[in-house]
Amino acid sequence: MSRIDPHSYADAAQPRVRRLDLDLDVDFDRRILSGEAVLSLDGPGEGPLDLDSKGLLIRGVVTDGGAAVPFELAGEEPILGRRLRLSLPSGTRRVAIRYETSPEAVALQWLEPAQTAGGAHPFLYSQCQAIHARTVIPVPDTPALRVSYRAAVTLPEPLSAVMSAGGAGDRPGPRPFTRTFLFEMPQPIPPYLFALAAGRLAARDLSPRARVHAEPEVVAAAAREFDGVEAMIRTAERLFGPYPWERYDLLVLPPSFPYGGMENPRMTFLTPTVIAGDRSLVDVVAHELAHSWTGNLVTNATMDHFWLNEGATTWAERRILEALHGEEAAVLSWAIGETALTQAFERFGAGSPLTKLRTDLLGVDPDDAFSSIPYEKGSRFFALLERTAGRERFDRFVADYIARFRFTSITSEAFLAFLDERLPGLSASVGAAEWLSGTGMPANAPVFRSARLEELTGLARRFAAGARPDPAAVARWTPSETLVYLQHVPRPLPGAACAELESLFGFLAQGNHELLVEGLTIAAASDWERGFGRIRDVLLTVGRMKYLRPLFKALGGHPRTRALAHEIYAAARPRYHALSRRVVETELAAYPA
Ligand code: BES
Ligand code: ZN
Repeated sequence: MSRIDPHSYADAAQPRVRRLDLDLDVDFDRRILSGEAVLSLDGPGEGPLDLDSKGLLIRGVVTDGGAAVPFELAGEEPILGRRLRLSLPSGTRRVAIRYETSPEAVALQWLEPAQTAGGAHPFLYSQCQAIHARTVIPVPDTPALRVSYRAAVTLPEPLSAVMSAGGAGDRPGPRPFTRTFLFEMPQPIPPYLFALAAGRLAARDLSPRARVHAEPEVVAAAAREFDGVEAMIRTAERLFGPYPWERYDLLVLPPSFPYGGMENPRMTFLTPTVIAGDRSLVDVVAHELAHSWTGNLVTNATMDHFWLNEGATTWAERRILEALHGEEAAVLSWAIGETALTQAFERFGAGSPLTKLRTDLLGVDPDDAFSSIPYEKGSRFFALLERTAGRERFDRFVADYIARFRFTSITSEAFLAFLDERLPGLSASVGAAEWLSGTGMPANAPVFRSARLEELTGLARRFAAGARPDPAAVARWTPSETLVYLQHVPRPLPGAACAELESLFGFLAQGNHELLVEGLTIAAASDWERGFGRIRDVLLTVGRMKYLRPLFKALGGHPRTRALAHEIYAAARPRYHALSRRVVETELAAYPA
């Protein structure tokens, strides 16, 4: 047996799955997908083939010749799910698995019409990263192995579907009032990049290769917000090489989506909270676009190397931002990241093994290990390499790295070996071993400072001592400047000070969710009653975990806000994604009702 990933039953000694042909029917009433997954091997295979599955009902398995394939579902393991072992007869090239998903599949959120902008039709979306593809498809669910796929997805009219794949047309479905949508993803991808969404969707072109999909009520605002996407793609191409996935489309989801964005290839999934009205939150798009190279093309081999995906991408995102908006904007973005990093160290403790870049997650659920550390510590490691080697040399290294490992999955050790090969001596001189295997933050971490940043944080820290920014100046601050300022305002504050902040920044009426949530976090921590209504609205609609965690944490400080938190959660729980529920319940456990 040669298992290759602590989070998968996939076995490298067994036949290799190369392609997936899916034929799935979406049943909104029963909240299940049912149909068939045909797995094609890279050559004739025989003997055991271990797949991952979680909550799947397996109806039967046959070869393409029609012979029944014996299969066995092992007992449920809490993190991994159930191993599905097929016993392939000799000479097997393809097997068809007939199955259906469970209504509790973690990767799928089924939304009631009331949870959508239109309010008239249900909505379904998937989120497979890190290890939830197995709740949708029986596959070897490890990023160490890549598959291409085709899919036929049948939906009730008038709904339509998008996937992390190219659209290949649609046709009348097998039953009246249904339609079947066809997709093809010719490039091999790790299973966590499989993605599907279905609902009442409209689309607008942003450029010949970029389009935004959203509910009809949202699509015009989305098209305005993201009209700079083509310029962003071109900037990224200058840094990392030609865009390798043909199309770059975006899907704006309903607000319960638990992440800011997800880099599903050819179809980035986005929270609608990035539509601020002034393009101020499109750094999320820069991030997901950058994953087209770092993550989707060069992929972490397992979640123990997740920093390779997120650290490289966060560094890349800030390089794109710098190219588009200048150095000062990039410094503020690094500063906002530093706040997140500090909070993550506080949450885990600086000595926790979860603060390592290269982790050992055997027996640990990747959703529990998730934090800003791989993003912010990882991107700082990249920035340190960049500063030490010099930008020009490092940019050449990054381009070579992407070219060398494209369409493969790699470990931290492979990254270091390539670094040693191309920039000899660099890893030793920056102490790469400690960066990867040590906890906390190494002493040589790069620092990002500017006079403007010092001014903003200094002013904020002196807030309690009475320092106030000039309202006329505040009116000219960029959203990032305001966010940096608000993040550094000490809390809790007296009610009068909250009211002053509100009259300076008007955060209760903010369209920018970063500013809104930061303001509401101050209000929550300060038991400031005027904020409670907006806190309730946000927590009842938005499922983005990045916002839920700090808000529910901040509500833990006073008896009255604690009661508010429990009351809100009781109402919000049925609307939250399973992942969002987990995060909130962890916060609420610190202050039980
Ligand atoms: N790939 C991540 C989201 C993710 C990570 C989902 C791990 C499941 C498991 C995505 O690229 C991401 O990092 N999103 C961020 C965007 C931000 C850093 C700009 C988010 O959702 O906040
Ligand atoms: Zn990311």
